[in-house]
Amino acid sequence: MRPLIIANWKMNPQNYAEAEQLLAAVLGAMKRIRGVTVVFCPPFVWLTDFSHKLRQASFGAQDVFWESAGAYTGEISPAMLKASRVSHVIVGHSERRRWLGETDEMVRRKLAAVLAAGLTAILCVGEDSREEGNNVSAVLEQQLEAALTGLAKASLARLVVAYEPVWAIGTGESDSPSNALSAALTIRKVIRDRFDQKVAQGVPVLYGGSVSSENIVSFLSEKGIGGALVGGASLYAEEFIALVTRAASVSRS
Ligand code: PGA
Repeated sequence: MRPLIIANWKMNPQNYAEAEQLLAAVLGAMKRIRGVTVVFCPPFVWLTDFSHKLRQASFGAQDVFWESAGAYTGEISPAMLKASRVSHVIVGHSERRRWLGETDEMVRRKLAAVLAAGLTAILCVGEDSREEGNNVSAVLEQQLEAALTGLAKASLARLVVAYEPVWAIGTGESDSPSNALSAALTIRKVIRDRFDQKVAQGVPVLYGGSVSSENIVSFLSEKGIGGALVGGASLYAEEFIALVTRAASVSRS
């Protein structure tokens, strides 16, 4: 499977012109790059403009609401995203859990709504601090169990899980590829125990947390890691193009 790179721009850049310039620079360079799938997740204010205009690119939302329509001021439904050519949705990012009070139950509802709408969900899980080092499996198990409750097996065909140790996000201090791999194995085990081996094998597990052009190859060299969720490094065209170019160079046969 081609590596999957998710560019999570978060609440950046600060205006449309910069956002358009960044995207154009990366898309221009990507014409020469094969063997990697890139999904751009700009802020909502520019997302649908880009997704309607730039048919050659794939787009994701950074968040979504679980209801399909109605009196929910400020919210966006999965159906609206789908109708706007958005294919992916990040669900349960730690910044939303931490700053916006997103609970396991909210994450569960969002995940179910995204999958039911036929979109691909990128479910984020990961431990908060390094001190929890010995307990990563328990944290992952708890977060996954909560999120997967009530899901039908068939809907997991559109599930991607991102292992994102919170302490590694935006700190420049990435996890080691071997730790990330062992987290990926734990994630697959939880899915296997709940569903079955075939389903678990089909779920791509990404790593996220200070991924850069310097370390991307070390993560993708682990066969159990299917790609990366990239924050900071996706905001600089040159750096992100280098990252994507190197990702494409990793043989995954
Ligand atoms: P980072 O962010 O690459 O800036 O660490 C990753 C993320 O939050 O998904």
